[in-house]
Amino acid sequence: MNKKFYVTTPIYYPNDILHVGHAYTTLAADILARWHRLKGEDVFFLTGTDEHGKKIEEAAKKQNKKPKEFADELVLRIKKDWEKLNLTYDKFIRTTDKEHEKIVGEILQKVYDNGDIYLGEYKGLYCTGCEAYYTEKDLENGLCPIHKKKAELIKEKSYFFKLSKYQKKLLELYKKEFILPKNREKEIINRVKEGLNDLSISRTSFDWGIPLPFDKKHVCYVWFDALTNYYSATREKGREKFWPTDVHLIGKDILWFHAVYWPAMLMSAGITLPKKIFAHGWWTFDKEKISKSRGKILYIDELISIAGVDSARYFLFRAAPFGEDGDFSEQALIDRHNNELADKLGNLVSRVSALIEKYGLEKTENKLLKKIKLKEIEKHFENYELDKVLNEIFSFIDECNALLFLKLLKKLQKSLDLKSL
Ligand code: ME8
Ligand code: MG
Repeated sequence: MNKKFYVTTPIYYPNDILHVGHAYTTLAADILARWHRLKGEDVFFLTGTDEHGKKIEEAAKKQNKKPKEFADELVLRIKKDWEKLNLTYDKFIRTTDKEHEKIVGEILQKVYDNGDIYLGEYKGLYCTGCEAYYTEKDLENGLCPIHKKKAELIKEKSYFFKLSKYQKKLLELYKKEFILPKNREKEIINRVKEGLNDLSISRTSFDWGIPLPFDKKHVCYVWFDALTNYYSATREKGREKFWPTDVHLIGKDILWFHAVYWPAMLMSAGITLPKKIFAHGWWTFDKEKISKSRGKILYIDELISIAGVDSARYFLFRAAPFGEDGDFSEQALIDRHNNELADKLGNLVSRVSALIEKYGLEKTENKLLKKIKLKEIEKHFENYELDKVLNEIFSFIDECNALLFLKLLKKLQKSLDLKSL
């Protein structure tokens, strides 16, 4: 049987057109999916949209649309953008898919039956932009640290998930290199060690969500619903073998949900845990996060129009180490397009094709091929060091160009009948 590889991206909120940040995670997943397919593995690459909750309900209301109708339009647009970026995902999941909704209900019921859900009252702060609960100390002058908007005070009856019960088990899990990169792992461990509050997992003040199977007046908290997508996507025929996920690729903004809530939910439901979570950094403009909710945005069409889709794909993974933040510069993209892709790679291809035209092709032992460091490349892929993969490939391209240059010199030497050059 072939080895399997299951990679996911976050499911994005279809509250607006997506931008370079969303493209980044999805391209990273595409790169990993293509690499594992090349190695002959059975790959499942999942992406999709997160469609329930107040954030989408409010965005739809602004346009006088029903949430589903509003999401339908954006999903079409998102799929077009993904096509333009040559993404090779195997499935696009929407949390409004009936099969997904059914699995969420089943998991809620399981967790409830295990005694991990109880009725209480939530009183506290909430940011709809993040769809997240906050405490005073998480906020910066009362503002959400990500959206820079005032968090709303809510007070309502709510079901709680006994997250606090899983503190120890989570800390055990983090010993197994569950979270990458290392510096982000440390942040999570420190916060979990401080203690965990039980998590409010239902709302009654709006109804755009999945009803709780044991109390239909409540709708499921959108993150509980959304995280389940990774599992529900594998519950269809022929896809069961892909669970557990090999790697969840996400941005650092949503690491807490993935590293804490998600494994605790699965532990409670008795489901095998994913193998790894990798949280990359942010693309910024002048050090400000590129975001749908604030500041400057670079849409996918604009990104592609700078120097074409391949150069955009190349730039995003060459210009910043995967895991760290990168400040986006159009000029830097153009420079890499010209200097690296056109000059180095482009020239190599055109020189080699000219030689082929002239002399034809012949299979021989070639010392040059030994210079491509496949073992290193393999290792960099395993460590998600995509920038280093590109470095290795480019040092090989440099070697090839140097060899061709040498050959050219020798020929010149001969034809001019010079003794030395
Ligand atoms: O959080 N730089 O969806 P979302 C790099 N629905 N990556 C960026 C980025 C930036 N400037 N901006 C966005 C949600 N991203 C939830 C996820 S998953 C069960 C639910 C990427 O539409 C990055 O991957 O806000 C980030 O984590 C994600 O988009 C957030 O997308
Ligand atoms: Mg967001």
